[in-house]
Formats: sequence, C-alpha cells, structure tokens
Amino acid sequence: MRKTSPVTYDEHRSSWDLFRYDDIVAILKDPVTFSSVRPTAGPVLLGSIIGMDPPKHHQMRNIVSKAFTPKAISELEPRIAEVVHELVNPLKTKQQMDLIHDISYPLPVIVIAELLGVPPEDRQLFKDWSDVIVKMPEDSTENEVQSFFRERQKTRQELDDYFMKVVTERRKNPREDLISRLVHAEVDGQHLTDHEIMEFCILLLAAGNETTTNLISNAIRKFIEEPHLQEQLRQQPELMEKAIEEILRYYSPVLATNRVVTKDTEIGGKQIKKGDQVIAWIASANRDENKFPVADQFKVDRTPNQHLAFGNGAHFCLGAPLARLEARVALPIILSSFHNMEFPEGTELTPIPSTFVYGVKALPV
Ligand code: HEM
Repeated sequence: MRKTSPVTYDEHRSSWDLFRYDDIVAILKDPVTFSSVRPTAGPVLLGSIIGMDPPKHHQMRNIVSKAFTPKAISELEPRIAEVVHELVNPLKTKQQMDLIHDISYPLPVIVIAELLGVPPEDRQLFKDWSDVIVKMPEDSTENEVQSFFRERQKTRQELDDYFMKVVTERRKNPREDLISRLVHAEVDGQHLTDHEIMEFCILLLAAGNETTTNLISNAIRKFIEEPHLQEQLRQQPELMEKAIEEILRYYSPVLATNRVVTKDTEIGGKQIKKGDQVIAWIASANRDENKFPVADQFKVDRTPNQHLAFGNGAHFCLGAPLARLEARVALPIILSSFHNMEFPEGTELTPIPSTFVYGVKALPV
C-alpha cells in the first residue's frame, strides 16, 4: 500500500488511510488541520487529553505533566523489579506458562494501580474494570454488541464513582501518590478539577495497560522466533534499550491512531474534505523503507530508530517513559529466569481481534 496507494479512501470505514511515514508525521504535527476531537473516541477517551486540541490540550497536558514526570516514573524502578520477581518466581518450577496471563498482563495493571494509590484490596476490582474498558467488541451479533456497550457504560460509571471518592479523599488527606500530586499540580495558578483528574486516571488505565502488555509479550515472541536473541541479550545487556525500540518499531503495539480534518486539504495529491476522518497507520510508517533500511528485518541494534510507536507531535505518548521502564526491567529478569524459551509443539498464535492494537491473545512458553 505504501508504494501503490499510500493515501486511500476506505468506503467501508468512510475514512482515509495513510500509510507513509512522512504523511503520518505531517498530520500528527498539525493539530490545527487534523483534530483529535473525534466522534469515535468512545466514552473512555472523549473527555481526556488524548481527545483534546490546542490550546486546551496544551494547558491540560502541562498540568498533568507536573505530576506524571519522568523523575516520578524512574523512582518506580525498584518496585517494578520487585513485582516482576513476585510474578516470575512461582513460574520457575513450571514446565509451561502463558507469558501474557502470568506476567505481561498483570504487571502494568499492578504498576498503574500502585502509582495511582489504589489500595491492594481493590486491585482485583481495578483489574476487572481495566479489562472491560480496553476490550473491543469482537465479530458478534447486534445483541452482543449492544450488551458489550452497556457493560462498558456501566463500568465507566463505576470507575467515575470510584475515582471521584479517591480524589475527594486525597484532597482532604494527601499522600505520596499520583492522585495527590494531580490534586496539587498547577500551572500559572490553574489547577485540575476533580472531574479532570478522574478523566486522566481513566485514560491512564485505558492507554497504558494493554499497550504495555503487548510490548512485553511481543518482545518475548520475537525472542522465541529468533532464539539467538535470547543469548545475545543475556551476554550483551547493554543492547536491551535498542532491542526494545526495535520491538516497538517491528511489532508496534498500537497499529493506528485517527484524526478529523478541520478544513479542506491535500495529502499525497488526494483532496481531503473538512469533516473527513484520517487513519494514520503507525505500524505501516514503522515499516516504511524510505525511513528504515531493510524495514522488514528485525535489527536488534538498529540506529537511528525514529519509530512512531508512541505517536509524534503534541499527543506523543505521555506514558512512554513508564512503558519503556517496565520493559527494560521485566525483559532481563524473564531472560535470566527462563533459558531456551520456546513455543510448545503445534502452537499457533492468535492475534488480538483489533485494528488498533497489536499483540496475541495468549503466549504459551
Ligand atoms: C498517547 C502508544 C503506553 C499514556 C499515546 C499515543 C500512542 C501511544 C501512539 C498517541 C495517540 C494519538 O496521537 O492519538 C503507546 C504505546 C505504549 C503506551 C505503544 C506501550 C508500549 C502508555 C502508558 C501510559 C500511556 C504506560 C500511562 C500509564 C498515554 C497518554 C496519552 C498517550 C496519557 C495521551 C497523550 C496526549 O494526548 O497528550 N500512547 N502508549 N501510554 N499515552 Fe501511550
């Protein structure tokens, strides 16, 4: 598609598909023409920064960035290592595991729950909610789709109520957690309202869990597909950071993002009308030969590697330092705990049924 039809109208979805790296960077860097206020964002994302345009986006992102800082994230490193060991240790005596169920799925949920200050007794509840809000309807009957949306709406209400209580409580009795920092974060005298804090907490759940799960499991999948990588990364741990960037490029956990066009414009010689939707295929940009030589090859030390896995421009992923840190801590522990990881005979991996996230449903190892 990148060569033959890099800008294509999709009748089925009524939207434009963009496949080339340069076109995608251009639209992500131009929020005036390509708006993030999207009718398709769904109840989870509509009211949060990911669904806002400047100047409101800029103002809100500045305030949340005061609480969600790279320093605050890097301080989590020892605790993340502890959680990974807690998950990995009971598996050491087992012959087989599902790496997703046992490690890469629980890890980000526990980390976000602790970061937000959710007490351990509420963790299961929090996990169940988090599952519902990131789930997409699979091919199913009209009735099933309707019941899916009803369940998501109900969960959204429960999350709103839960976080509202926590925010009110932290306003009275601040602690050392992200919600307390969000309560106090200010830029030019501007604070977040309780509602804005709640929207941000729910966005963290929605944006940060399945994506990080897929980053870690896509990495292990690749290490099994090319087994020499396992020993190479044990011998040369200094390569791990580059290996993670290459995983993000090669098996991008987020396949695409979308924007709405605010005025008639042109991309790649095609006339795009005000109100049209464009889909920026990040995963395609990350395999663009014009940007990445031998793009379909996994090169563990690829340099430079300006992939778009975390987006680009104003909405560049705020959680990128956290996702990278979780992978940087978890992958070496997994590699040193399990030697010669392989798939059991006859394993067939099933992709998650989604056009927006990329990963597999289970990873038997
Ligand atoms: C935004 C990918 C992990 C929080 C984004 C965007 C992408 C992305 C592509 C931009 C969306 C757009 O432009 O429309 C990823 C990937 C992850 C990951 C691949 C894991 C490998 C996380 C984590 C968190 C997080 C762990 C937080 C806990 C956010 C937030 C935004 C965002 C808050 C919105 C930023 C804004 O609108 O200004 N992410 N993400 N993400 N991500 Fe992530």
